[in-house]
Amino acid sequence: MDAHRRPLMDRTPALLVEGYAWLPDRMRDSTRSVLRTRLLGRPALAVRGPDAVRFFYDESHVHRHGAIPAPVLDTLFGQGAVHTLDGVAHRTRKELFLPLLEAGRVARLTEHVTEAWDEAVRSWSGRERVVLFDEAAVVLTRGVCEWAGVPPRAVDPQTLARDLVAMVDGFATPGPRHLRARRARTRQETRMAGLIEEVRSGEVAAPEDSVLERVARHRDTGQGPLDPRTAAVELLNVLRPTVAVSWFVAFAAHALHRWPAHRERLRAGDAAFATAFAHEVRRFYPFAPFLGGRTVTELTWHGESVPAGGILLLDVYGQHHDEELWGDPYTFRPERFLDRPPGPDELIPQGGGDPAAGHRCPGERVTVGLLEALAVRLARLECTVPAQDLRIPLRRVPTRPRSGFVVTGVRAP
Ligand code: HEM
Repeated sequence: MDAHRRPLMDRTPALLVEGYAWLPDRMRDSTRSVLRTRLLGRPALAVRGPDAVRFFYDESHVHRHGAIPAPVLDTLFGQGAVHTLDGVAHRTRKELFLPLLEAGRVARLTEHVTEAWDEAVRSWSGRERVVLFDEAAVVLTRGVCEWAGVPPRAVDPQTLARDLVAMVDGFATPGPRHLRARRARTRQETRMAGLIEEVRSGEVAAPEDSVLERVARHRDTGQGPLDPRTAAVELLNVLRPTVAVSWFVAFAAHALHRWPAHRERLRAGDAAFATAFAHEVRRFYPFAPFLGGRTVTELTWHGESVPAGGILLLDVYGQHHDEELWGDPYTFRPERFLDRPPGPDELIPQGGGDPAAGHRCPGERVTVGLLEALAVRLARLECTVPAQDLRIPLRRVPTRPRSGFVVTGVRAP
């Protein structure tokens, strides 16, 4: 039988066991950065590289509707989320997010978060030990809720932070983490849908033009307001990923511990270096392993094909560690981004292509802005890093330093 037609074994179990290494390990044997495989019972084609990013983001190649498995929707994104839409429906829903995340608003969000961080640091000085990942999640929750117009009496930041982290932490795994993620989503969707109804009835006053107010009044083309559950899903699609920046905060702390020479330029407030450092954290450390969509038609990439109704995978982690693209991919070297800002389809931790026209993350500016500001604060943090388990297991998706990055003896600034 022709090798291209031979049935392939389904690789879903291998993916669940091997995590981030699953695709790159198999792609290593390919000289063409393409791999034919089977996933979730369907034929799949994995691709990598800037040209492949453009191929993946061509809407005539890939659709998102029906592409995201239900366990991922029920935890990470929410049913009916913008992530699942295509064509006009996608673009009109996306218009809800883009103006909310433009530069001026990002600067205000960063102010809210850095104020919450500075206040938290003052309280850490009296504590025996602080787990930076957990604390960053609470700081980000406080900041994003204030910025988004979510009234303080509507949420307990500790509980909300725990639930938002759980939704991300449990999306890619069966077992207790997944159940925690499902419960967290159900609880917060119910809470936020109630809040949307209170805003619409006038019981709760949402600040004019805030995220909460915009989501409450958003209409898809030719439709009435979003039903409260879908509105809650989209409100959470701003709150949850902002709080997920805590993963990058833990990675940034890890990088500063392993390569302390980078501290000086951050401490000194070198803005260009802070941007480069944020980019290198997003490139070097693993977060999204890959992205996927459902093939609209039969697609061929570098001689390998996948039929219509199959899966096209974009190997994000593999692309970020591709020697041809980066030269020294396993060296943490922010300077690479000082010499040359990343091309839009080279650095893709939050997707590729154009955020307005495609599915690229609209929160990239937010993520980079927050990470720049918090990396400077991490570099200035006076504390001790005690012995702890700082391994970052590649089998766990999403991963992070095992200890969550513990610090002791924090000295108030
Ligand atoms: C989409 C990653 C932060 C809002 C995405 C996608 C990825 C991603 C991989 C999917 C791209 C695709 O499907 O092609 C991340 C990471 C973040 C982050 C790693 C930082 C930890 C944010 C923030 C916001 C945000 C801060 C908003 C405040 C969204 C939305 C989408 C999205 C609404 C759906 C876009 C669409 O389908 O058109 N993000 N993101 N993200 N992200 Fe982010």
